[in-house]
Amino acid sequence: MTTMIQVENATKSFTLSYQRSLKQTVLAKARGRKTHDTFNAVDDVSFTVSAGESVGLMGLNGSGKSTLLKLISGVMRPDSGSVMTRGRIAGLIATGTGFDNNLSGRENLYLNAAILGMSRAETDRKFDEIVDFADLGKFLDTDVAYYSSGMKARLGFSVAVNVDADIFIADEALAVGDRPFKRKCKKRMDEIVKSGVTMFYVSHAPGAVRNLCDRVLVMESGRLAFDGDVEEGIHFLHYDEGDDSGEDDGLGADV
Ligand SMILES: Nc1ncnc2c1ncn2[C@@H]1O[C@H](COP(=O)(O)OP(=O)(O)OP(=O)(O)O)[C@@H](O)[C@H]1O
Ligand SMILES: [Mg+2]
Repeated sequence: MTTMIQVENATKSFTLSYQRSLKQTVLAKARGRKTHDTFNAVDDVSFTVSAGESVGLMGLNGSGKSTLLKLISGVMRPDSGSVMTRGRIAGLIATGTGFDNNLSGRENLYLNAAILGMSRAETDRKFDEIVDFADLGKFLDTDVAYYSSGMKARLGFSVAVNVDADIFIADEALAVGDRPFKRKCKKRMDEIVKSGVTMFYVSHAPGAVRNLCDRVLVMESGRLAFDGDVEEGIHFLHYDEGDDSGEDDGLGADV
């Protein structure tokens, strides 16, 4: 099997500053107090993903999922260890990233496509499909500054799902979409998985992960705490307890 994502002992640390001003920092230093701390948001994480796998990345808030996704997408580099990917990566890291509020929806469509590595000609070719999917109608030439968060998400997602990619990553991209749009996205993401694209999907929604993924990774305070079967992973996180019908992000069984 071709390896599409190879993460080896990847560690990413951040610095937490205790002081808010230079004066406070100087005073703290003079008193021999600590001025900052570093911690590992991603801590010695290793795994590989083969071609065609669909992986759900789960874990509590702040456990390091988005940071890991940024390492995979190349937005950040690990401080130690390595992250290698094969082919073109598309997807959404956060809704609204890569948008320029002073540009129209149309202009942002081209901007986002360029960020994802699409040429002008490729974007021209897919323009109608993207616009159709986003369904922004008469707002296409309005500045994105006046878009609702859901409208921004639709535009970003529509560009992302129309890029021909080898790896598709999504970080809770659908959390703000309305139900009809989520339904459309679910269908599209199913198609992407079926077409053999490698999927790496961050979600808090067990229903969505069950539908879309064939493997689950669970992060716990920066460490990879579980890697394996979907149902076992959801159970590991205790996300199979109680009623989660109200929490699903829309890719779940209720759509
Ligand atoms: N650029 C940054 N600078 C400093 N700390 C950061 C930075 N980005 C993330 N962190 C910290 O790293 C930790 C992991 O954050 P991350 O966003 O990866 O969590 P997450 O698992 O995606 O959480 P959520 O479920 O809330 O999206 C958190 O403690 C966060 O505060
Ligand atoms: Mg996150």
